[in-house]
Amino acid sequence: MRLIADAIKESIGHPGPIGVFDSGYGGLTILRELRRAIPDADFLYLGDNARAPYGSRSFDLVYNFTLEAVRYLFARGCQLVILACNTASAKALRNIQQHDLPAIDPARRVLGVIRPTTEIIDRYTDTGHIGLFATPGTVASQSYDLELAKLHPGITLHSHACPMWVSLVENLEADSPGADYFVKKEIDSLLSADPLIDTIILGCTHYPLLYDKIRHYTPDNIKILIQGKIVAESLLDYLCRHPEMDRMITRGRSLELLTTEEPDKFSGLASVFMGENISSLRVHDLNAPV
Ligand code: DGL
Repeated sequence: MRLIADAIKESIGHPGPIGVFDSGYGGLTILRELRRAIPDADFLYLGDNARAPYGSRSFDLVYNFTLEAVRYLFARGCQLVILACNTASAKALRNIQQHDLPAIDPARRVLGVIRPTTEIIDRYTDTGHIGLFATPGTVASQSYDLELAKLHPGITLHSHACPMWVSLVENLEADSPGADYFVKKEIDSLLSADPLIDTIILGCTHYPLLYDKIRHYTPDNIKILIQGKIVAESLLDYLCRHPEMDRMITRGRSLELLTTEEPDKFSGLASVFMGENISSLRVHDLNAPV
């Protein structure tokens, strides 16, 4: 067993799996598409289910939890980590990239999900009016507003927080009849704020797990964007432009799933969602020796 800091040092310059992190189940919606896009790569997924939802937590807490997770994945050999979580991308990514990575290992990379989504959003909208469903934390951070103002200043964004949706997914209630009430309520509220919206971003990686219900209560003429494929395409493009990082990914087609909570519950949902039998392991303490 080695301390996290020692394990990170020992893995400097050695290829490893692609790390994928989310507060819980939501990142699986990204992982599934990443594996389709790069099938021969090894992946190591970490869901911090014990501390989810992140969406209503403070900036500092989300940053601290995310940094712990990133350091853990680095200690397990990852050279590249995808924050498959909008809340973590909104509240922690910039700090980690600018302040932590240079000290930990300047060659490693941490990438998020907000930039890839905002980069291509103009391809989907005709009216220029976009709706965003996201966690309270992502909405309050105004990360989407800031990115869009830089990349597509002509686009009007209406953001709407859905505080209940992540809990429905984390509690395995996404298919329950009770979920309909919360899904319809938020859709009606967003669309009444701006009837010109023709595209809605599901700006929380948990929300695709509620997709059938969201689609059901959204008028047919409105497109609903799921981030998985967008992030996967963006990563492929990134690896083409950065062959030095492409070479740092091991290619054994393996998948390891880790959760900070109950592994059997996690394995069950992950197996259904990924369409294969997958077992997961529990990590009790992200700061403990690995
Ligand atoms: N799946 C995450 C996101 O994309 C976080 C949800 C949460 O933990 O509140 O925002």
